Amino acid sequence: MILTDTHTHLYSEAFDEDRDAVMQKAIESGVGRFFIPAIDASYIPSMLNLKASYPERVFLMAGLHPTHVKENYAEELEQAREMLETHKVYGIGETGIDLYWDKTFLKEQQEAFRTQIRWAKELQLPVIIHCRDAFQEVFEVLESEKDDRLFGIFHCFTGTAEDAQRAIDCNLKLGIGGVVTFKNGKIDKFLADFPLEHMVLETDSPYLAPVPYRGKRNESSYLLHVADKMAEVYGISVEEVAAVTTENSKKIFGI
Ligand code: NI
Repeated sequence: MILTDTHTHLYSEAFDEDRDAVMQKAIESGVGRFFIPAIDASYIPSMLNLKASYPERVFLMAGLHPTHVKENYAEELEQAREMLETHKVYGIGETGIDLYWDKTFLKEQQEAFRTQIRWAKELQLPVIIHCRDAFQEVFEVLESEKDDRLFGIFHCFTGTAEDAQRAIDCNLKLGIGGVVTFKNGKIDKFLADFPLEHMVLETDSPYLAPVPYRGKRNESSYLLHVADKMAEVYGISVEEVAAVTTENSKKIFGI
């Protein structure tokens, strides 16, 4: 059984003390592939270090996270662009809109989002979308950019069944993580109405740990708890969940 963590920030400072042990534990738990979305330019060296340590298992992305869109976002975007021109990257992001923490840079977030969607379309790469308290704003940009070149992942999906259908209509997979295990997470109630072919699994480590680790630091080995819950939701075996969602990740990332 091979699980694919399609969204993990294992390069972040939260793992500086025990990164190799965390990687080892994940690999022993059956998590064989790790896709690492970008945050901002300051994290690029640690992303490259992680890639160098696990070249067969770790896959890079380039982009600018919406909560890191500030006055200097144009400069940040330039560095993200340089990253994707000088390295083999498998996706653009994470990008999107986050109005939970701060609405100050909404205009800039929208512009950075649109720019990164256009890069993804230009380079035929998947776009990895982050959306928090901003479904309307995210769909507004997405649907105006939607064409047959647009594809990617709606990361950490927390929306309604209607939002799920809208995302799928934009040729996006739903990134399912710890939220599916939460009592009040709600998505477990309707996900099985959509074929598993539309889903990929992710942890978003170090954030959003699944039950029974909710509130603690998340790590990629906990992906097994997400897979277990998906098996329960779909009424199939965890091996089947792993096989289908890893296959979906291969289609999205081309590897
Ligand atoms: Ni993330």
